[in-house]
Amino acid sequence: MRFDVLTLFPEMFDCLNQSIIGRAVEKELIDINLVNIRYFSNNKHKKVDDTPYGGGSGMVMMPDVVYRAFQSVKTKKAKVVYMTPQGKKLDQKKVEDLSKQEHLIILCGHYEGIDQRVLDKIVDEEISIGDYVLTGGEIPAMVLIDSVSRYVKGVLKEDSIKEESFANGLLEYPQYTRPEAFEGEKVPDILLSGNHQNIEKWRKEKSLEITKKKRPDLLK
Ligand code: ADE
Repeated sequence: MRFDVLTLFPEMFDCLNQSIIGRAVEKELIDINLVNIRYFSNNKHKKVDDTPYGGGSGMVMMPDVVYRAFQSVKTKKAKVVYMTPQGKKLDQKKVEDLSKQEHLIILCGHYEGIDQRVLDKIVDEEISIGDYVLTGGEIPAMVLIDSVSRYVKGVLKEDSIKEESFANGLLEYPQYTRPEAFEGEKVPDILLSGNHQNIEKWRKEKSLEITKKKRPDLLK
């Protein structure tokens, strides 16, 4: 799967070189291409933004610069996602849907926003990572890349996806490892019993119990 990220701050994405996503890139299961929007400014000072027509505070990213950055990576199959608090809220279902795309172009805004004309021209979908405002779309883009990449074949062990929180609409059951006793607390006996049917039943019950307690909204 290919991600092209249109951003003014490509260095922010360095942390994706680590851990599971870093290994997925190394193994070429995913390709993360960072496109610095500033390179596409024709201005001798590499200016990318200007004051808003009609007045008001802040600066607005100019449409032609963003458009040239987009054109440098667009393909017929690409889906263009704009990270914005005005977008549809990201959830596990949306993540799974997006993972079926071959090519995602992720546009990160900054300042007061991006000229509406280029958004109207290139964006297929607006996505928010929650009802709060960040300083830019870079962290939301990283959230999207991380969550979507987990569904790309080979990135995780297949079982991890089936058993995790939200996979069946429920939160995950509690996990335990060695030592068998920690600060006087023992691992639940059933997990030491070796009876896989009973263990599975217990885990399902725990999942339901935890979901009822922590996220009753998921059961509606
Ligand atoms: N840009 C700024 N805040 C955001 C949010 N909550 N989701 C997506 N993009 C954003």
